[in-house]
Amino acid sequence: MAGDDIQEQRDLLLDGWDEAAKGWGRQADRTQSVALPVSEWMIARAQPAPGEQVLELAAGPGDTGYMAARLIAPGGTLICSDAVSGMLDVARERAEDLGITNVEFKRLQLEWIDLPTASVDVVLCRWALMLIFDPAAALRECRRVLKPGGRLALAVWDPPEANPWATIIQRTLVELGHVEPQAGGGPGMFSLAAPGQLTGLLEDAAFFDIETRSVPIVRRYTSVLDWLGETRDLSRQFSAVWGRLPDEERQRLRDAVAAAAAEYIDESGAVALPGSSLAASASA
Ligand SMILES: C[S@@+](CC[C@H](N)C(=O)[O-])C[C@H]1O[C@@H](n2cnc3c(N)ncnc32)[C@H](O)[C@@H]1O
Repeated sequence: MAGDDIQEQRDLLLDGWDEAAKGWGRQADRTQSVALPVSEWMIARAQPAPGEQVLELAAGPGDTGYMAARLIAPGGTLICSDAVSGMLDVARERAEDLGITNVEFKRLQLEWIDLPTASVDVVLCRWALMLIFDPAAALRECRRVLKPGGRLALAVWDPPEANPWATIIQRTLVELGHVEPQAGGGPGMFSLAAPGQLTGLLEDAAFFDIETRSVPIVRRYTSVLDWLGETRDLSRQFSAVWGRLPDEERQRLRDAVAAAAAEYIDESGAVALPGSSLAASASA
């Protein structure tokens, strides 16, 4: 793809994130309860300490950074960043609700981190590196802004077969003809899932002391409808499809998702979907 085309695609992706921000805000508590084991591993590896400067990239609602913010007090500051202002608004509200005060908010892009070289002790990035066009550039930027001895902790996703929570709805939408199959090769949930790929990128960006770990997660819903409701908030694609379907087609979609997920639904209708996040840590 030519440079101008990539920039256009980038802008489209970011517009989509801005539109999705309110939904991510509504689901922030639920997202954080699912993601907690991933964030806990990241924080345990990054070891933020009192007085340190922590940067969270692509923070969305900001929760991993807020766990670090508590650990760097007194004297430390969290820079909570995201590429879109809608997400920063959500993160600001959440900081207020959680009583986090040692935080600054900054609009930053992963591939061009507008901060001085060697200025932060810890960089955190949960569930975003795989969604951008140039993850190698982003990791080089993370390395640049870290002080010597600084720590990076991030998380992406393991392969699709380990993440039925994400694949069942997508596959059903394709099977029912509501969306086209996703083309491979570009940014996407599983674009850094191949064995060794993330480690290779971290090595290329001159990180050392690299460790990766698959962290299991479970997404729980009271019903299939509850699951589809969350997906409407988190996925612009699903929300657009749902919005244009008449009632009987929505019912058909709901039934098809329930049939595809049958093994994860108990007799009360509650859903428990497994997943696996690929977390990594490294030193600068
Ligand atoms: C899947 S959400 C993850 C949010 C949060 N880190 C979490 O784990 O809940 C991806 C986030 O990445 C942000 N984002 C997407 N592309 C970005 C980019 N190029 N630079 C910085 N942030 C980006 C989006 O705005 C969104 O907040």
